[in-house]
Amino acid sequence: MKIRKAVIPAAGLGTRFLPATKTVPKELLPIVDKPTLLYNVEELVSAGIEELILIAGRGKTAIEDFFDVSYEVEELIEKTGKADLLKQVRELRKGLTVISIRQQQALGLGHAVMCAMPVAGSEPFAVLLGDEIMITPKGKPSGIAQLNKIAESTDLSTVAVIEVAKSEVSKYGIVDVEAVKKNLWKVKAVVEKPSVKSAPSTLALPGRYVFTPAIFKILQKTKPGKNGEIQLTDAMTALAKQEGMMATVIDAQRFDAGDKLGFLKANVELALQHPELSGPFRAYLEDKFSKGR
Ligand code: G1P
Repeated sequence: MKIRKAVIPAAGLGTRFLPATKTVPKELLPIVDKPTLLYNVEELVSAGIEELILIAGRGKTAIEDFFDVSYEVEELIEKTGKADLLKQVRELRKGLTVISIRQQQALGLGHAVMCAMPVAGSEPFAVLLGDEIMITPKGKPSGIAQLNKIAESTDLSTVAVIEVAKSEVSKYGIVDVEAVKKNLWKVKAVVEKPSVKSAPSTLALPGRYVFTPAIFKILQKTKPGKNGEIQLTDAMTALAKQEGMMATVIDAQRFDAGDKLGFLKANVELALQHPELSGPFRAYLEDKFSKGR
C-alpha cells in the first residue's frame, strides 16, 4: 500500500483557547513563528503525502487562505528582500493539494474522519490530530513517515501509541494489544477514555493514524459511543478485528499543544531549537531563573 492522502480534522471550536480563538482558528495560533497546523503539514509532506483533506467548520476559512497565494504580502516581501520568510509556505504549496470539506455538525472525531470519504475514497490515508505536534530531527523520518513504513510493509492500518501514566488513561483512547516484537504491537481493541480500572493497558493514542479505506464503511455503521459522539476508537476496534491493525511508538519529540500548558511548553522547546532565537532566549531564561524570579 502507498499512502498519498492525509486528513486533518480542524472543525473544533478551540474553546480551551478563548478569547484568542474567537476569530482566529486554533490551528493558526503560532508556535514561535509558525501556525500550529504548519508543523503537521511539514510532517505529512516529508512523508511523501500529496493531498491534504481538511475537515473544517464554520469560522475556519482563514485556514484555506493560509494555503492560498497572498499577493499583497508576497509582493511586498519580494521588494523588501525578506522572501525567505515565505519560501517555506511556497515550497509546501508546490507539492500539496489542499481540499477542504465542511463538517456541518460536531458529531465526534469518527464523524469528522467519515467526512473525508468522498475525497479519500478507496485509498489508504493518514489522519493527524492537529493538537499534537511531533518533531523529528532534520533528515529523520517524520512521525507519519514512520507509521507509513510499517503500514506499507504489513499492508495493515497502523497507529501511533505512547506510554502514559495510569492517572492519564482517562484522557485518551487506550489500546488493548499483543506484542509482536520490540516496538511493534498487534491491536486487538481500543477503548475511548477508560477509567484506570477498566483500561486494558497504559498505551495511549496520541493522534497519528494510518487507515485502510475499510474504516469508512465501518464508520458509517458506528453508533454514537462515549459522550454520545461517533468515536473513531469504536470504529478502530471493528477494523482491528476485521483486517488487523498495528501499533508503534513514534520516535519524535511530542507536544500536546491542545491545552495551554502544553502549548506553552511547545513554544519554549521550539524557541530553544530556533536558529535565531535559541541563543538570546536561552540567555533570557538563564538570567531569569538565576535571579529566582
Ligand atoms: C481524541 C481521541 C482519543 C485520542 C486523543 C488524542 O480525544 O478521541 O482517542 O487519544 O484525541 O489527543 P480528544 O482529545 O479530542 O478528546
